[in-house]
Amino acid sequence: MMYSEKVLDHFSNPRNVGEIENADGVGEIGNAKCGDIMKMYLKIDNNVITDAKFKTFGCGAAVATSSMATELIKGKSIDDALKLTNDAVVEALDGLPAVKIHCSVLAEQAVRSALSDYYTRQGIDPLPIVGEIKMPEE
Ligand code: FES
Repeated sequence: MMYSEKVLDHFSNPRNVGEIENADGVGEIGNAKCGDIMKMYLKIDNNVITDAKFKTFGCGAAVATSSMATELIKGKSIDDALKLTNDAVVEALDGLPAVKIHCSVLAEQAVRSALSDYYTRQGIDPLPIVGEIKMPEE
């Protein structure tokens, strides 16, 4: 199995690891099959994601994709963050082996799960905005 330089870099030197105290949205997502879990913390100000941090209890690709996902959404509007797809994360990492694509779905869904929590805390139903959070299973 071959990993790109960027994957190896984000795995051995992940960006934005940790928790945000008084986060405005916290998401957690797990993959039932591999058992990996990702937790995502967002700070949101005026519809802009001013900070993003994560904790991943999972494989190297899960660490690398969550690291890249936080980098891609920091400073972006919620709308742009909602458009973040796992494909965009994979592309930003110069690719992932096919058997590891599901790890990037975990990162995509962790962001959505945190945004969903953000709307819930605002008293807004997240479903029409964020959609269903998928639990990736393969
Ligand atoms: Fe489960 Fe990577 S093997 S997220």
